[in-house]
Amino acid sequence: MARCRPGRRPTERPGEPRGEPRAVRASRCGRAAAAPPPRRARPSTAPPPFAARAPRLAPRHDRSTRFRRLVAAVGGKPHDVNARGRARPTRDRPASVEFARRGGNRENRHRTERCFDGGVTMRVLVTGGAGYIGSVTAAALIDAGHEVTVLDDLSRGHREFVPDAASLVIGDVSDPGTVHRALDEGLNACVHFAGRIEAGESMRVPETYFAANTGGTLRLLEVLVGAGIERFVLSSTAAVYGDPVRLPIREDDPTEPTNAYGASKLLAERALEWVSELRPLRVAALRYFNACGATPDRGELHDPETHLIPLVLEVAAGQRDEIAVFGTDYPTRDGTCVRDYVHVADLADAHVRALEALGGREQLVCNLGGGAGVSVHEVIEAARRVTGHPIPVRTAERRPGDPAELVASSDRAREVLGWEPHHRDLDAIVASAWDWHRHRLSDGMTDST
Ligand SMILES: NC(=O)c1ccc[n+]([C@@H]2O[C@H](COP(=O)([O-])OP(=O)(O)OC[C@H]3O[C@@H](n4cnc5c(N)ncnc54)[C@H](O)[C@@H]3O)[C@@H](O)[C@H]2O)c1
Repeated sequence: MARCRPGRRPTERPGEPRGEPRAVRASRCGRAAAAPPPRRARPSTAPPPFAARAPRLAPRHDRSTRFRRLVAAVGGKPHDVNARGRARPTRDRPASVEFARRGGNRENRHRTERCFDGGVTMRVLVTGGAGYIGSVTAAALIDAGHEVTVLDDLSRGHREFVPDAASLVIGDVSDPGTVHRALDEGLNACVHFAGRIEAGESMRVPETYFAANTGGTLRLLEVLVGAGIERFVLSSTAAVYGDPVRLPIREDDPTEPTNAYGASKLLAERALEWVSELRPLRVAALRYFNACGATPDRGELHDPETHLIPLVLEVAAGQRDEIAVFGTDYPTRDGTCVRDYVHVADLADAHVRALEALGGREQLVCNLGGGAGVSVHEVIEAARRVTGHPIPVRTAERRPGDPAELVASSDRAREVLGWEPHHRDLDAIVASAWDWHRHRLSDGMTDST
């Protein structure tokens, strides 16, 4: 499979010093120390294709200097203004107050925020909230005291996954009319899960992936920014890294996707960063590794299913004869690929934390992994222990573009979000998925929506 590299792409984000953790880097608004950190040389002098088409900005350190002068002129604190000199919410001035001060969304000026536990109750648009990770996150947001509107076209999702306490708007995120309909609920934040998720499929129909994951995100953003939404969390993926240059993978490692899926998400991340630079929007991109497991009410149900744990459990449930293992000669401890599995409940918790953390920062990129690499054979062994089924294996050729090992460093999520993956035991993770799978089958739930 050919590597998807449309021209040289930069390994750094616009204006970002490589090697500096993004979470702790200076903000554009001049929170920096006096001297900006030194930039590393770019690997090539050719301009990145995406940045070359984007509007030109002064180098970050020039802009910081401008900000400091601007802020000094108005007698404020450096992080009180954004790139256009507009007031921003700060820790001292909670987003709720700032939001209400500005009149909230155009159509909902009469509505004010209410506070809980010293924090802010947000009204959150969850796109893709009828899907696997989106529905578990919607439920977690409601549990945390926030209000949720799900926007999902139900192309891959399941109506019954949407929590009872959430509103559901059925439609496409690319359709401004549908998004406006969702905004009538009076929202002030968005977590964006909706999109296409299959790396293999993305290499057959790349245009579909760029349209859905990059184009869809941008069309959604246009409406949200116009409506004054202030916080946006993007579902991103470990696929933005491609072949890792080191393990565990850190957020400032090179991003060289090896499939169109990863590239489409990376472009969405880059666009978000530009929008956040220039508009009053705070953004987080959460790069998950392999989502897995289930809660009692919601689990992994894709059609077609390509993820290892649900496939193995389909064998145990008698829905498949065997599981194919692609490649047994990788340089790993048992020859099979090693991946980093992170439980869906831990992912949901990270989204709640990221949304809340955006009250005090403008941009954030975080890996979310379970903290350990697990091989394909180890997953199958765990499923044998949990289900008591022999789970026959068929050895197959390596799949092109499958790196031997992908393991995340989640240090930044730990430091910035105070996030810790609580579901670390592989047998317990598989058991949660197995319990949900069996209940689904006994309830007669099918793969259709
Ligand atoms: N599952 C994983 O292991 C994994 C890993 C990394 C990143 N992610 C990302 O997480 C997100 C959610 O993944 P998931 O596994 O829950 O997928 P999913 O397919 O279960 O959920 C996606 C949801 O989005 C909806 N949707 C798709 N296109 C839409 C559109 N144009 N308008 C409105 N709704 C639309 C679908 O109906 C579905 O309910 C995706 O963005 C994916 O890229 C997933």
